[in-house]
Amino acid sequence: MGREFIPIFSDWAAEYDETVAGKDEEYRAVFLKYEQLLAEIAEKAGRSVVEFGSGTGNLTQALLDQGKNVLAIEPSPEMRRIAKSKPSLSKVTFVDGDMEVFPEITDAIDTIVSTYVFHHLTEDEKQRVIGKYAAMLPKGGKVLFGDTMFLSLARKMELIDEARQAGHQRLAADLEREYYPVTADIERYFRQHGFTSRFKQINEYVWLVEAQRE
Ligand SMILES: C[S@@+](CC[C@H](N)C(=O)[O-])C[C@H]1O[C@@H](n2cnc3c(N)ncnc32)[C@H](O)[C@@H]1O
Repeated sequence: MGREFIPIFSDWAAEYDETVAGKDEEYRAVFLKYEQLLAEIAEKAGRSVVEFGSGTGNLTQALLDQGKNVLAIEPSPEMRRIAKSKPSLSKVTFVDGDMEVFPEITDAIDTIVSTYVFHHLTEDEKQRVIGKYAAMLPKGGKVLFGDTMFLSLARKMELIDEARQAGHQRLAADLEREYYPVTADIERYFRQHGFTSRFKQINEYVWLVEAQRE
């Protein structure tokens, strides 16, 4: 589930690709090195990939560019419509679903990916979906997430204050409203479900999490 923020994306869908390109000053630092993050996730992914929260299809495109097979799952109809309208994504199947509730996947998969989505889930939901993904993946299978998270709650509060002082009120409100986690909790959730995980910082906000099923 974690569908409570979907209306935000229905309103944002038409301008979303401009935001990730750095046109929205408030979110520029959050999307710094966005293309690099997507390319790195696509490179690390195996051959058969399920993507959650595919949005306008930018990570989907990066996966296709690397020759990967992708099933894209996205709950916002507006986001799905924009992704489907991109000619280079015309052969991809975009399915209605969210990180927890989605149509049954019968094909064997080796990787689950997602960028800028995991923070929409509460801590309970995060733990539940990691358990679900552990059951969907073979030994050695991977979960690759790129998302905003913080080394500590103190660092999160500092960045919220900095955003406010810079006049970035929308960003500050977003960081307070949604469920942005600390890295140690994410590492623990994965460990409890039989994954080893590695964390790499991409920018001041975003980390790449590479979790592998033992
Ligand atoms: C910030 S956008 C990221 C889109 C894309 N992954 C990217 O990196 O550009 C977040 C996306 O997650 C979707 N979303 C929101 N809640 C979700 C959930 N619980 N499960 C899956 N996707 C969700 C939104 O509709 C939106 O398309």
